[in-house]
Parts: sequence; structure tokens; C-alpha cells
Amino acid sequence: MPDLSVIKSCFLSCLLVLLQTWSSQQDEQSQLLLVSFDGFRWDYVNRVPTPNFRALIDEGVQVEQVENTYITKTYPNHYTLVTGLHAETHGIVANEMYDPIHNRSFSMEGPEVYNAWWWEEAVPLWVTNQKAGRKSGAAMWPGSDVAIGGTYPTHFLSYNASMPFEARVEKLIDWFLGPEAINFGVLYWEEPDESGHNLGPESPLMDVVIADIDDKLGFLRGKLKNAGLYDKVNLIVTSDHGMTQLSHDKIIELDTYVSRDLYTWIDKSPVVGILPKEGKLEEVYSSLKNANPNMVVYKKEEIPEHYHYRHNVRIMPLIIEVKEGWTVMQNRNGSFMLGNHGYNNSLPSMQPVFVARGPAFRRDYTKASMRSVDLYPLMCNILGLKPLPNNGSLSNVQDLLVETSTPKPVVPPKPREPSYAWAVGSILGAALVIGFLFIFVQQQPAWSLEFKSDRYPRYRAKAEYTKSNMGKDATVEKGRAIIKIIAD
Ligand SMILES: *[C@@H]1O[C@H](CO)[C@@H](O)[C@H](O)[C@H]1NC(C)=O
Ligand SMILES: *[C@@H]1O[C@H](CO)[C@@H](O)[C@H](O)[C@H]1NC(C)=O
Ligand SMILES: *[C@@H]1O[C@H](CO)[C@@H](O)[C@H](O)[C@H]1NC(C)=O
Ligand SMILES: *[C@@H]1O[C@H](CO)[C@@H](O)[C@H](O)[C@H]1NC(C)=O
Ligand SMILES: *[C@@H]1O[C@H](CO)[C@@H](O)[C@H](O)[C@H]1NC(C)=O
Ligand SMILES: [Zn+2]
Repeated sequence: MPDLSVIKSCFLSCLLVLLQTWSSQQDEQSQLLLVSFDGFRWDYVNRVPTPNFRALIDEGVQVEQVENTYITKTYPNHYTLVTGLHAETHGIVANEMYDPIHNRSFSMEGPEVYNAWWWEEAVPLWVTNQKAGRKSGAAMWPGSDVAIGGTYPTHFLSYNASMPFEARVEKLIDWFLGPEAINFGVLYWEEPDESGHNLGPESPLMDVVIADIDDKLGFLRGKLKNAGLYDKVNLIVTSDHGMTQLSHDKIIELDTYVSRDLYTWIDKSPVVGILPKEGKLEEVYSSLKNANPNMVVYKKEEIPEHYHYRHNVRIMPLIIEVKEGWTVMQNRNGSFMLGNHGYNNSLPSMQPVFVARGPAFRRDYTKASMRSVDLYPLMCNILGLKPLPNNGSLSNVQDLLVETSTPKPVVPPKPREPSYAWAVGSILGAALVIGFLFIFVQQQPAWSLEFKSDRYPRYRAKAEYTKSNMGKDATVEKGRAIIKIIAD
């Protein structure tokens, strides 16, 4: 008679083996984390020492020029990154939209964001991942706290701009480790966009903001390492668009050319969506057509083909586009920003950073260019998912991946500076910036900015600007610009 305890232990160990096989198969499911630092222009990584971005580039891949999608605004481009579709196809055509068929308006800051209907001309990658039986996690990516097609991400955070970056990262790490472990995560952070708008990208204070973003990337790397995830998770760090400097001397006032009574203005500078009042299209069009050499007005059907920005009712009958660096307002009473984006997606200043590392990616590889629509098929390939119809192409970006890497002509890698050079560089850089700022302070008081940084803890700098008549006092605090308007 067989010993019952032997059978029992046999059964138990069989079960264990089965469980282990099953869980190791789970482990082998590719993991991917997509991070967006809003408004992180491609060349910011070269502007100050960014050791954490450098590490990712050395350990992985960098794409120097990413052509994003028109219009180069936040909502359209974040949806493009997770759908591989141009804005005219995914339907999030602007941050401010009007749908004439349904007589409904969408504003980035309004409650309509949570009306899933706006988003449902496409299906984001987190939903497709879940349909394949996997789990997704989302920390504040635009659209990720909306039940698109009735489906929320498995784990997500409702949008809360005050939630610190570090807290968002910690949530994601928890989700990767389970229970209900995710294999795909998306993470959004509002900077350096906010400071770029407020300070202008040419402000020396942006150096500190960028250094702070690099520190934040360092925090994320550290957390992934501590959780044992760093060499398992494929990490992609990118952005939605760049940023360009504006000027008070480059303002176009629409009231000068056409009466407000003839149209509703839907989307704002630098690409204005104009909805003419009933029967007023030709009148508004001819008033604006040759009005100002720094702006172009298109009837919808005249919008250049290469923008892929025509075929959607949410694109207005008239579109105004201004030249890089120009702002369009109804009159000067409108709010003015020192930095903006939204312009032609072929402009280098509009283009985002792209670096990635992890088991799926090649090491120390630089690629000259890609389109942001190509990211979607790339991510589907990493996740082993069948992509939905999209405007990207895996073959354009396959060379970024290990398995299929074929030697291709590579842009010559930039000579790597030895590490002491970075140290000397950062000290000199800091000294220069600080010195410059102090001189600036003494010479030209008008509105002032104070800043401090984790990277340069010993310095407190104050800068004052004259060109503006606005009278502003700002503190750059851990990378977020807090602008206090004070009486001049
Ligand atoms: C469109 O909606 C607005 C309110 O949001 C309403 O005042 C207006 O009458 C509506 N127009 C049409 C044509 O239904
Ligand atoms: C937003 O986040 C902040 C900081 O974590 C927190 O104090 C606040 O309660 C949150 N607000 C909501 C509505 O959850
Ligand atoms: C701007 O606003 C001020 C105060 O509200 C007003 O007096 C002035 O007429 C406005 N200017 C224009 C051009 O609308
Ligand atoms: C956008 O920029 C590209 C590159 O400079 C240029 O060829 C194209 O004509 C521009 N498009 C428009 C509509 O200005
Ligand atoms: C983008 O992809 C969608 C879905 O396949 C397709 O309907 C659309 O025509 C494509 N757009 C362009 C410009 O190729
Ligand atoms: Zn943005």
C-alpha cells in the first residue's frame, strides 16, 4: 500500500513546479514603462549635464529627431503616442475643441475631458493590452482616467496636478510588483512644459528646471533598481512636443482685421481654430487672408497635406497658423506667455526628446530620426500585441530593437566626454549661470525670479527681467515654476 504522505508530497511538489513554471512565464511577459515629461524639447539633454538621461542613452538608444504630429499640442500628441494615429484620425485634434455635429465643446481644463465619447475614435494601447488578458497601469497620462470604450486602465490615478512625481513613480512600482501585476505602465509629468511657458525656453532658469527633470529621472531609475525591475522593464522616456521662445514684439491682434461678431474662436495660439458665424466664412477668410505676413489662414481643405490635419469635423472650417515665435490674440488684453508650442511639426523646436533602454533595446545606439506615430507599432512589438490599424511603421524603427537589429548607417556617435569634464562643466556652468544672473539682477530690475535646485543646493539666484511690463515674481521650486504676479 503506497504511503499517502509520499503521494501528498509528490502532488505538492508537482503543484509547486507547475506554479513556478506558470509564474516564470508571467515573468517573461515583456514589461514596458512609457514616460512623458511634458514639453521636454529634444535638445534639452545637451543644455546642462543630464547624467541620468546620459546613462539611458549609453545603456540603450536615443533618437535625435522625433517628428511629432500636427498640431504640436499636449492632448493631440499624447494620444498619438498611445494610438499611432495622426490627430485627424484619433479625434483629439486640439486641447480646445468643438464638435459641430454634437454641439459640444472640449477643454483640456474642463469636465468634458471625462466624457469618453471624445476619445472613442481610437483605442489606446493600455486598453488593447488589457483585451489581451494583461494588466495596465496609468499615472495621469492624458485620457488615462477616462473609461474609453467602457474600459479604465487596470490601475490608474485620477488626474491631480498636485500629486508629486515621486508619488506617481511609487504607485507605478507597486503596480508592476502586483497583486494584479501590470506589464505596461504610462507615467506623465507636467514639467518642463509649465516652466517653459512661464519663463520661455531661452531663460537661463530653464537650466535648473531641466537639471531637476534629470534628478527626477534619477529617482525613477533608483526606484526601478531597488525593486529589481531595472533590467526587466523596457523604459521609454519621451515627450509630446518642444517649446519655442515668444516675444512681446511678435503679437498679432485679430481684432485689427476682423470683427469678433463674425466668428467664434475655438482653439488658441499659435494654431487658431476659427468657426465663422453662419454664412460668414468667406468674409472672415478674405479679411484674414493677406492681413499679416506672419500668419497664414487656411480653409480646411487648403491645410497642407503633410500635416494630416483635415479629415475630422472637430477641425474648424478656418485655421490660422502663425510663424514660429509669434502669438495670436484678439487684442493685447489676452494672456501672453514667454514660451509656446503648437507650430509646424517639422520645426526642430517643436520636437521632443526620445531615449529608451531595457532588454528589448540595443545598447549605445543613436538613430537620427523617427516619427512619433512609429512608437505605437514599436511598443506593440515589445509587448507582443497585434497593433490596431495605425499611421506608424515598425520597419522605420525596428533597428532600435535587439533581435532584429541590422547594421545600418548610424550617425557618428558624439565623442563622449570623460566624467571629470562633466563635473568641471557643471561647476563652470553653474558658476556662469549664477554669475550671469547676479549681473542681470544688478543691471535690469523689473520683474524677478528666484530659484533653487537640488543639484546646486548652495546657490540661491535671483533674476530680474526688464523687457516685460507685467511685474512678475517667480520661484522655481523643484522644477515647478510658481509665478506670483505682484504689483510693479
Ligand atoms: C448648442 O449648445 C449650447 C449650449 O451649450 C446652446 O446654447 C445652443 O443653443 C446649442 N445650439 C444648437 C444649434 O443646438
Ligand atoms: C492631490 O494630491 C495632493 C498631494 O498628494 C493631495 O494632498 C490631495 O488630497 C489630492 N487631491 C485629491 C482631490 O485627491
Ligand atoms: C483692455 O482691458 C481694459 C481694462 O479691462 C479696457 O479698459 C481696455 O479697453 C481693453 N482694451 C482693449 C483693446 O480691449
Ligand atoms: C513646415 O516646415 C517644413 C520644414 O521647414 C516646411 O517644408 C513646410 O513648408 C512647413 N509647412 C508649412 C505649412 O509651413
Ligand atoms: C492613418 O491610419 C488610419 C487607420 O489605418 C487610416 O484610416 C488613415 O487614412 C491613415 N492616415 C494617413 C494619413 O495615412
Ligand atoms: Zn504638452
